[in-house]
Amino acid sequence: MSEQSGAGRVVWVTGAGSGMGRAAAVAAADGGRRVALSGRRPDALESVAEDVRAAGGEALVVPLDVTDVAAIDAAHARIADAWGGVDDLVLSAGLNTPRRTWENQRIDDFRSIVATNLTAVAAVVQASIADLRRARGTVVAISSVAGWAFKPGAGIAYAASKTAVGALCRDLNVAEWPNGVRATHLCPGDVDTEFLSMRPEVPDAANREGMLSPDDVARAVLFALDSPAHVRIDELVITPTHLR
Ligand SMILES: NC(=O)c1ccc[n+]([C@@H]2O[C@H](COP(=O)([O-])OP(=O)(O)OC[C@H]3O[C@@H](n4cnc5c(N)ncnc54)[C@H](OP(=O)(O)O)[C@@H]3O)[C@@H](O)[C@H]2O)c1
Repeated sequence: MSEQSGAGRVVWVTGAGSGMGRAAAVAAADGGRRVALSGRRPDALESVAEDVRAAGGEALVVPLDVTDVAAIDAAHARIADAWGGVDDLVLSAGLNTPRRTWENQRIDDFRSIVATNLTAVAAVVQASIADLRRARGTVVAISSVAGWAFKPGAGIAYAASKTAVGALCRDLNVAEWPNGVRATHLCPGDVDTEFLSMRPEVPDAANREGMLSPDDVARAVLFALDSPAHVRIDELVITPTHLR
């Protein structure tokens, strides 16, 4: 059976203003999808919208702080007004902190990280679930290798929240497959993006050599989105070759 055509489908991308969200949004537009772009920085989203349109796609800029559940519902309503609903989700918004050990972590940071990496994933899916059922939709949650296997140094809140995203995806797959909804727990290793500035030791150019690029991950996102409807990519781990 051939790949599922994404042409005309509406994909809502969170964390769309930069990094993997940006790359996935442009790649999805290249495949003919209409792309709703969410993140907190409107200027970054406008710049991605230009790239989407240059790729021949349609873009809708929907600024959003994903930790604000009421704002998620309002953002969903905006997309539904414009395009009738959401067919697929790419959830890339994420947060970490340099203070990630038992010596220096702060519980306020912990709460924000869980709110961004986990609760927001649940809230965006919840806001979209009726649409996803109607459209036989795919959810791609951009998690982390730290959500696939224990990774020392990733951060307590980060690893806990990303691991829980795996459980959320499994639940979606078990509970929602009769409704045609499927989810992918996408677990990248090191990717050369702005996100690395949240590490206790920010990698320099030499240390970024050989890391994944956002486009590498976007290819994996499109693989999950474009797989035929009877195929479920439960979990996908994608790492740089050099990862030990
Ligand atoms: N880079 C890596 O090595 C790596 C590895 C594995 C997994 N990941 C995961 O990959 C995902 C994407 O990260 P990236 O590497 O592409 O870094 P990135 O460029 O920093 O992307 C993260 C995006 O999340 C958005 N965001 C953060 N908090 C948000 C909020 N409260 N509401 C809405 N949007 C929010 C940011 O936009 P605004 O600031 O404009 O809101 C930003 O565009 C994250 O979930 C991260 O945990 C990263």
